[in-house]
Amino acid sequence: MKTTIAVAFTTVLVALGASASPAVHRDHGKRHALTGPNGEPYVPGKWFDRFFMIIAENMDFWPVESQSTFANLWKQAPGGRLLANYYAVEHPSQPNYFDHIAATTFGWNSDSVVNITGSESFSIVDLLEEKGISWGGYAEDYPITQGCYVPYAPENPDGTQVPHSYVRKHFPFISFETIYTNETRCNKLYNADMFWKHLEEGKLPQFVYFAPNLLNDGHDTNASYFANYVQKTWIDTFYHNDYFNTRALNYLSLDESGNTTGFNTVPGDNNNHIYAAIWGDALTNRDTYDKYDFARYNHSSITATLEMNWWGKTGLLGRNDTYAPVFALPYDGAN
Ligand SMILES: *[C@@H]1O[C@H](CO)[C@@H](O)[C@H](O)[C@H]1NC(C)=O
Ligand SMILES: *[C@@H]1O[C@H](CO)[C@@H](O)[C@H](O)[C@H]1NC(C)=O
Ligand SMILES: *[C@@H]1O[C@H](CO)[C@@H](O)[C@H](O)[C@H]1NC(C)=O
Ligand SMILES: *[C@@H]1O[C@H](CO)[C@@H](O)[C@H](O)[C@H]1NC(C)=O
Ligand SMILES: *[C@@H]1O[C@H](CO)[C@@H](O)[C@H](O)[C@H]1NC(C)=O
Ligand SMILES: *[C@@H]1O[C@H](CO)[C@@H](O)[C@H](O)[C@H]1NC(C)=O
Repeated sequence: MKTTIAVAFTTVLVALGASASPAVHRDHGKRHALTGPNGEPYVPGKWFDRFFMIIAENMDFWPVESQSTFANLWKQAPGGRLLANYYAVEHPSQPNYFDHIAATTFGWNSDSVVNITGSESFSIVDLLEEKGISWGGYAEDYPITQGCYVPYAPENPDGTQVPHSYVRKHFPFISFETIYTNETRCNKLYNADMFWKHLEEGKLPQFVYFAPNLLNDGHDTNASYFANYVQKTWIDTFYHNDYFNTRALNYLSLDESGNTTGFNTVPGDNNNHIYAAIWGDALTNRDTYDKYDFARYNHSSITATLEMNWWGKTGLLGRNDTYAPVFALPYDGAN
């Protein structure tokens, strides 16, 4: 199944060749070139020019899907689709976040501070940088406006951790040597206020990674709190803002399930099933069946999808991005 899809996509890509024209954005009849925060021109992808991802914390599939905000997201967002068979890859949090950008957990199974160094620190960021594709990581309550903040979490004057705030384990970039040793790359990590500023200015990067704080992501709260946050903060933007609806693919999911009992020990059940929705005009729903996708995805499908979109093949990181299925995008010429 995966091989067939990969071959079909590759054939299509070869047949069409690489697009040379810069990405443009139709806005009230005007056309203007899209750029990232530093004026970087958008590099057009095959299906989308922008990929947005936002990550919540530690909840099982049903508690999330049973919130109307999330049941409606895949049903009502333009191009919405439920990835009904999506699994996180590890417990606890941190290795799942590594997998988001590196297609591997590095065998890590802890939340403690670690630096991923040397050739291991090769990630999607290196691929994006090489091709001139703008990217940015935005985190709520990130203690600085822009740059690399390496501590585990902000601290009060008495040395205790500021509660419900930013934590490093949910912001993978900061652990990668090719990023934290490079000022140019550090400057692509921002406090979330900058997300809203860049959105307003029409200067969001092509790859956006958004990490809510420990309250909003459900970590210190629950699914209804997370739903309320998304409903109030995001839904209108998701459904109506051009950036989420023009040559766009968007993704909302969790790092891992809430139930960690029996992980990798209960036969046939790796106990990490999580809610994942994708939407955007990169997805064309041809019929209602396309509202569900039962392919077995995991976090490595993110890098695989980005690679297929901008490079026409997967496995460029040489890890599980080689095997993870690409999120099903429309075939050219189908229908
Ligand atoms: C890919 O995932 C499997 C678990 O299914 C893991 O054993 C393997 O180490 C991963 N590969 C890499 C390169 O991370
Ligand atoms: C990781 O790298 C940072 C920045 O160089 C350094 O301050 C920190 O001590 C390192 N942490 C570990 C656990 O190696
Ligand atoms: C830092 O990153 C920038 C942007 O990718 C790159 O051009 C530059 O070569 C890097 N610097 C070092 C010392 O690796
Ligand atoms: C969810 O969390 C919020 C904030 O912590 C709390 O007020 C509310 O009672 C919780 N709801 C449930 C159903 O546990
Ligand atoms: C957690 O997962 C285990 C293993 O699949 C299962 O036996 C148990 O019922 C689950 N607990 C809850 C609360 O869903
Ligand atoms: C992710 O899915 C791919 C394809 O099924 C698989 O090869 C890989 O082992 C999975 N990753 C993990 C960490 O299980």
